[in-house]
Amino acid sequence: MPSTNLYLNFNNPTQFIEGWYWTLPSNKLKIGQVKAITLLGRNLAIYRGVSGQVVAIDAYCPHMGAHLAEGNVEGDNIRCFFHNWKYNERGICVDIPSLEKPLPVCIKTWHTAEKYGMIWVWVGEEKPSSLPFVLELEQADCDYILGTRFVKNCHPNVLLINAIDAHHFNTVHNLPLEIVFDSQDLNPNAITFSNTTRGGDDSWLIRLIRPLYRKEVTYSMCYWYGSTGTVTLGPDFLHFYIIFALRMIEGGKTEGQTILVTPKRPGFLGWVVNRGLLWLTQQVGNYFAKGDTQVFQTIQFNLQTPTKADKSILQFIQHVNHQKALTWEKWETVNYSNSQIPSTPNSELTLIEQEKNGFKI
Ligand code: FES
Ligand SMILES: [Fe+2]
Repeated sequence: MPSTNLYLNFNNPTQFIEGWYWTLPSNKLKIGQVKAITLLGRNLAIYRGVSGQVVAIDAYCPHMGAHLAEGNVEGDNIRCFFHNWKYNERGICVDIPSLEKPLPVCIKTWHTAEKYGMIWVWVGEEKPSSLPFVLELEQADCDYILGTRFVKNCHPNVLLINAIDAHHFNTVHNLPLEIVFDSQDLNPNAITFSNTTRGGDDSWLIRLIRPLYRKEVTYSMCYWYGSTGTVTLGPDFLHFYIIFALRMIEGGKTEGQTILVTPKRPGFLGWVVNRGLLWLTQQVGNYFAKGDTQVFQTIQFNLQTPTKADKSILQFIQHVNHQKALTWEKWETVNYSNSQIPSTPNSELTLIEQEKNGFKI
């Protein structure tokens, strides 16, 4: 049985998992532009230098505290608006106009990367781990579009488990299938859930399309850093890929962005086909998002009475609770030894209920 200090991360509004987080669409930050963003409670300036490289830097100038997003990009550097101190892409002060030599001051910068049309920032103390990616497309050149941007009244962890909430596919989305997930750790920061579907014989749709593919449907979800989920969905001959990039905002709520992805297809025809496929992928994503919208405005997540069908959810909770956590705004490593066991219901009760209901995660 896991030790009690493993129950601190899931659905916790004061801390989050060290990892990559989405910030801005790449095309919203042109060369020479700087923008203010707030990421996981911390204010940053994010700019694109002349080399094309994106720099994410703590917002406030160490001289007098002006927000650097008020300043100007010069080459790959940023110059503060207020008294024109200049910082390079590593945050080191390289020029103070009133002094002959700059003072030895610097500002913290954060690793950035661009993938699927999005700028991602590594929020962590350790060296960055892998960026989230779609498993089947790890090596592939991809086409993508950004889908819906949304805010939900619940924690990102809670929103993400919807994708592996097996029972609700019947009750909310009317799919006549019994979905059973197998989970597998992809790496220390990512876990996959893949379906082995059953049933569905009563459905004319399933009977009609069954000869076309080997399995009923592929459905798998890969969770990265407890905050970004990549869904693969469809019959063998056509897989749809949807990324749910989430981040926690004030009050433990969620701001999210969907990204629709498909492998690049050659030529003009390939381009046209991909526009159609990406549009279709968006409709698939919308269909699944729509049925649950209202629940996530009002839910007070509290898995007091798990059943067998909730097994994957418990596995995900355990996965999240094993990740390294940082504090909201300060981005400091959570020191578990000083933490108290939370009185949240997803801790001991869940384990007790598991035993009672005859299964263990
Ligand atoms: S506050 Fe930035 S240079 Fe003075
Ligand atoms: Fe759903």
